[in-house]
Amino acid sequence: MQLENAVIAITGGARGLGLSMAHHLGKLGARPALIDFDNDQLDKAVNELVDAGIDARGFVANVADEASVTEVFADIRQGMGPLDGLINNAGILRDGLLVKARDGKVEKMLGLDAWQAVIDVNLTGVFLCGRAAAAAMIEDGRNGVIVNISSISRAGNMGQSNYAAAKAGVAALTVTWGRELARHGLRVAAVAPGFIETEMTASMREDMLDKLTAGVPVRRLGAPDEIAKTVAFIFDNDYVNGRVIEVDGGLRL
Ligand code: NAI
Repeated sequence: MQLENAVIAITGGARGLGLSMAHHLGKLGARPALIDFDNDQLDKAVNELVDAGIDARGFVANVADEASVTEVFADIRQGMGPLDGLINNAGILRDGLLVKARDGKVEKMLGLDAWQAVIDVNLTGVFLCGRAAAAAMIEDGRNGVIVNISSISRAGNMGQSNYAAAKAGVAALTVTWGRELARHGLRVAAVAPGFIETEMTASMREDMLDKLTAGVPVRRLGAPDEIAKTVAFIFDNDYVNGRVIEVDGGLRL
């Protein structure tokens, strides 16, 4: 797909990997529509992109809320024209062991609120935005692309029952949509990043991060633009469909 003048919605685009993708795709000629629920951060991000000569716009929405998602895709169409692509990138962490116990005594359990919050944003959000974007692109006759951001954790990870389940679901949606939507001229693929240097990894405990880095064959965290480049590759290569590309420095076993 040609990125020149393409309107690409990026959820969670106000910072981190999403903002890096907006810069990278913007430099290649795309017009990013950043969707985020953090209004202040969104303003900062859009100003930064516009200063870099990129035709970006910001849209406040909660990806986990059906009405908010419906409204935001209508607003993007009205403000920027028909959609050509979506990057389902918004995601949150609420880590915790399923059951934390010592000497046969249960100290803590993963709360239903932490479970539900992550499923709502990281899985239901992907479903809602993917559905809205696919419907819009089919009706507008665009041969668009949906890129989902999964994670290395989709294979299962200590302390991440909620996150791992959501990211495995995102990988499954990618295969399913790749099959369902191809007949309408749409492609769907995903990126499963390993550990990348962003605010999200900065919020992890330092000893956990050191342990993680030591276990990465290339001995470093990934850079956000290394994920953005993979997303651009998916947009560019019309034969990539229904697959998850792993970009993790060789970490996954
Ligand atoms: P981040 O925390 O830096 O940025 C996430 C953005 O999403 C924030 O701007 C936040 O306001 C927005 N957001 C959160 N919930 C939202 C909602 N309900 N509606 C709208 N916007 C919402 O995260 P980061 O590190 O940039 O990660 C981006 C994606 O990449 C996530 O899906 C994450 O799971 C995934 N990922 C990140 C890795 C990393 O090492 N940073 C590794 C593997 C996957």
